[in-house]
Amino acid sequence: MQIQVGIITVSDRASKGLYDDLGGPALKHAAEDYGWNVLAEALVPDEKREIQRAIREQINKGCQLILTTGGTGVALRDVTPEAVREISIRELPGFGEIMRIESMKITKNAILSRNLAVVVEKSLVICLPGKPSGAVECLSFVVGAIPHCIEVLQEVPTSC
Ligand code: MTE
Repeated sequence: MQIQVGIITVSDRASKGLYDDLGGPALKHAAEDYGWNVLAEALVPDEKREIQRAIREQINKGCQLILTTGGTGVALRDVTPEAVREISIRELPGFGEIMRIESMKITKNAILSRNLAVVVEKSLVICLPGKPSGAVECLSFVVGAIPHCIEVLQEVPTSC
């Protein structure tokens, strides 16, 4: 089963065109390297309603996995975790735990990221940091669990 992916860059400055979105393209490249199909891409400001709308739109397009980059830190405008939690049916705490533990080996600032994964409808939403290399690194720490998680959520018969 090929995983259908949506990517959402959450950034006030990139959405205003003040700088190029590098996180979205970096995640797209990583997703394609994992053999997944990138079905949708979006760029939204750090606004809860915009983030939630983009997630719903990508789910309606058929995305089974949605990767967000940005808005996970401590700045007052960082609201990605709050936005996704509000529309989720459950959180999968292991994703955030592993992303922070592994990232701490790379940068002490990793403790500032509120990385998380939640289930919205039947899709897995993973919130990654804004720095492009950080987003790709964090995805690599949890990638092993993603196919099985998607299969269970999509109710595809699995071997375990
Ligand atoms: N995790 C990894 N693996 N690599 C990184 O470079 N950057 C950190 C952290 N997590 C980083 C990382 C930094 S500097 C911040 S401020 C937080 O993620 C939050 O980033 P965000 O607010 O752009 O989402």
